[in-house]
Amino acid sequence: PIVTAITGWPLTHTRSPKMHNAAFLDAGIKGRYVKIPSNTDELPLIPEVIRCYNITGMNVTIPHKQSVIPLLAKVAETARSAGAVNTICNSDGKLSGANTDIAGIKATIAALGINPCGAKILIIGAGGAARAAAACLSGTCAQLSITNRTREKAEALAEEFGGAAADLDSLAPEYDLIINSTPAGMSGFSDSLPVPASILTPATAVFDMVYEPENTVLLAAARDRGVRKTAGGKQMLIEQAKASFALWTGTIPDTAVMTKAFEEQP
Ligand code: ATR
Repeated sequence: PIVTAITGWPLTHTRSPKMHNAAFLDAGIKGRYVKIPSNTDELPLIPEVIRCYNITGMNVTIPHKQSVIPLLAKVAETARSAGAVNTICNSDGKLSGANTDIAGIKATIAALGINPCGAKILIIGAGGAARAAAACLSGTCAQLSITNRTREKAEALAEEFGGAAADLDSLAPEYDLIINSTPAGMSGFSDSLPVPASILTPATAVFDMVYEPENTVLLAAARDRGVRKTAGGKQMLIEQAKASFALWTGTIPDTAVMTKAFEEQP
């Protein structure tokens, strides 16, 4: 059987084993997906663990997505520009890294019916998740703007990925797509909106990367203001899991099967 795994710390709440094991079963592939927790001291041992146990593929999560890069023989271009790897593939002991969070972002944007080329896209936030979104959109001829609480970080990211930094207080209702990469909304409806509600118009699509809760303060405000095209972090998580599974097995798993497994209570 194919052995796949996830490493990181903590792994208590990860839904990946459920999603992948359901996909193996549904696709009729003999395979398992297990948790291999590793702290910062243990991460350097992970390549040896992969080879010793002949693990076909491994997801890498917090806090190792950046620090795993130097441990790999090869890293895909998009993962390198995002500065993060979340998927390792083992080919006869040679380990390569990819970033399927980016594939998840791309698939979610496509599902919203947005063609990035020529589209005005605003990314809210300038951390790791914003970087993945910017890496996903760079080279697509999107008109990229980045806004952030701390303006300097938005400026640095915009410069790196060929976008423009935008001030939070002078945003206009001009975007085809708004992507929230900040944790604003994770604590529920008591959180304040990460951007002024006035920029949410029916012509705008809104993608909130937050997946817990499923209905965030931003998505709710967008729907209130007539936005019809909305997507949440759940969709992105499922799409990234599908992309990792496909890299390891050559089979694209069924979205409904992974979604159902994701929704099961831990
Ligand atoms: P991640 O890897 O998930 O992107 P991160 O690197 O810590 O996490 O980045 C979090 C981003 O969300 C940052 O841009 C942060 O803004 P600052 O650069 O000003 O710190 C932003 N952020 C965090 N909490 C926020 C909140 N409550 N409202 C708006 N932005 C927030």
